[in-house]
Amino acid sequence: MPSFKIAPSLLSADLGNLNAEIASLDKYVDFIHLDVMDGHFVPNLTFGAPVVKCLKSRVPLEAHLMISNPEKYLEDFAKAGSWMITIHFEATLEKTGEVLRKIRDLGVKPAISLNPPTEVKLIEPYLELVDQVLVMSVHPGFGGQAFIEDSLLKIKRLRELKSSLDICVDGGINLETAQKCLKAGANVLVVGSFLLRADNRQKIITELRELK
Ligand code: DX5
Ligand code: ZN
Repeated sequence: MPSFKIAPSLLSADLGNLNAEIASLDKYVDFIHLDVMDGHFVPNLTFGAPVVKCLKSRVPLEAHLMISNPEKYLEDFAKAGSWMITIHFEATLEKTGEVLRKIRDLGVKPAISLNPPTEVKLIEPYLELVDQVLVMSVHPGFGGQAFIEDSLLKIKRLRELKSSLDICVDGGINLETAQKCLKAGANVLVVGSFLLRADNRQKIITELRELK
């Protein structure tokens, strides 16, 4: 059994050929990470549920919703075939518990994400409601940014709080930062530009899989 999971972020992929991009990756990865941006919660735009609905994948699809008012779109993303929906604590605040429960009620795995300035203690009350915590290790909005080292402390803290939790890290992941995250206690790696912009993607996945 692999001790950690790998999920490619398609943000740095050819967005005009998403199904071909997925087909080149889905034999080697655990799930596909989809970066949904609204130009409001983050200063960038990508795609929404109608695009997700058109995707074909051998592995499950996780929708990382970097959007304001995610509660308005949960049903759309569930119907579009999301296996997991990740919402941002900063987008839901006091509605967080309600939104996570709604995701579960839709038959989808709920996950919560926190931005680099957000402290772990703010999401502690929700750990029992989620299947995964996604630690943002860059400021959300763009691929190809440098990993923020303080994220490692958050991963360590989350691992102390719950040994069985799936802790995912997203942003600036390469062989070096992946190793640090795994050591700190992460067990799910989202890999964007390092993988998608590589000449030999399979080689990168093999090298990541060899990390301990
Ligand atoms: C950033 C996204 C990430 C990003 C990761 O807002 O949530 O998923 O695409 O890309 P890299 O690995 O290039 O930082
Ligand atoms: Zn993401």
